[in-house]
Amino acid sequence: MTRRILGSSDLSVFPLCLGGNVFGWTASAVESEAVLDAYVTGGGNFVDTADAYSAWVDGNVGGESETIIGNWMTSRGNRADVIVATKVAKLRTRSGLSPANILVAADESLARLGTDYIDLYYAHEDDEAVPLEEIVQAFDSLIRAGKVRAIGLSNFTPERVGAYVKVATANGWALPVAVQPHYNAVFRAEFESTMAQICVDHNMGVAPYFALGSGLLTGKYASAADLAGAARSGGAGMYASDQAWWVVALLREIAEAHDVSPATIALAWLRDRPAVTAPITSARVVDQVPALLRAAEFVLPDSDAQRLTERSAGL
Ligand SMILES: NC(=O)c1ccc[n+]([C@@H]2O[C@H](COP(=O)([O-])OP(=O)(O)OC[C@H]3O[C@@H](n4cnc5c(N)ncnc54)[C@H](OP(=O)(O)O)[C@@H]3O)[C@@H](O)[C@H]2O)c1
Repeated sequence: MTRRILGSSDLSVFPLCLGGNVFGWTASAVESEAVLDAYVTGGGNFVDTADAYSAWVDGNVGGESETIIGNWMTSRGNRADVIVATKVAKLRTRSGLSPANILVAADESLARLGTDYIDLYYAHEDDEAVPLEEIVQAFDSLIRAGKVRAIGLSNFTPERVGAYVKVATANGWALPVAVQPHYNAVFRAEFESTMAQICVDHNMGVAPYFALGSGLLTGKYASAADLAGAARSGGAGMYASDQAWWVVALLREIAEAHDVSPATIALAWLRDRPAVTAPITSARVVDQVPALLRAAEFVLPDSDAQRLTERSAGL
């Protein structure tokens, strides 16, 4: 079975993490459960969510994604087989990283997930208004309480990741085992410039989000005009540039040569980048899942990877 160890943790994860921001957004509860079933049936075991998913949808309050995942694990009786990552800081009613907020938010996530432990608990974003010592100690206390197995950081700057590690080391508190950055074939510089090396230096796993550029890298949009009216037009549209469309064209060409989908190529390329453990991507419907699962074990020839790396250089 295809698995990778996430950084310095003991979490053994499928190298393609299933994103949960669509659950309760573009995927109904029924569709979400079908996607989750297809993912684990295909060998997956790593699911990513957040307390804030999917609060941006009219009528939602946040926590919908965790509730869907929790109900699914309860009904399938598979809690022990799934590595669940969730996050705190961005739910409007539980925002920030004050110790009190982290502790209450964790309990609320546990309740929605229907479990008594979270495998990987991320700070969803930094909160410089709270002394770093207080943040690190609060996450550490969750580990000591047995409510969380490992800590991760998302959307932190490289400097703040380094500072977190320093505080944790100095005090004997839990080190972060993973980071979750924005990183894909048309958004490279921010992660590759310094964060990648910091992750290697501190033995942190990397689970890049927007691994498919909100659908752009699936090849289903060939130009800006194709994005008009799509639910993901804003997300995918943020990458639109001549060079990004050339990357998409190359993904389609390589995919055709190997008789797989462009999404598989984009994810396999990302999976093989230095420091990366498991790209995160979501599926709205079951039909989208096979292309994602295929990326976990597809062997992308070096020559193709090299062409993609060169075509996307500077992005
Ligand atoms: N830490 C953070 O701040 C942060 C931020 C964003 C996301 N995330 C995490 O990362 C995950 C992934 O992000 P994301 O889902 O927004 O973006 P993404 O993975 O780049 O794009 C996924 C979307 O692409 C489309 N797609 C997937 N497979 C496809 C296929 N085979 N064929 C055609 N279209 C396909 C689907 O959207 P449509 O069918 O609707 O086009 C799907 O929802 C999230 O679920 C979340 O867990 C974290």
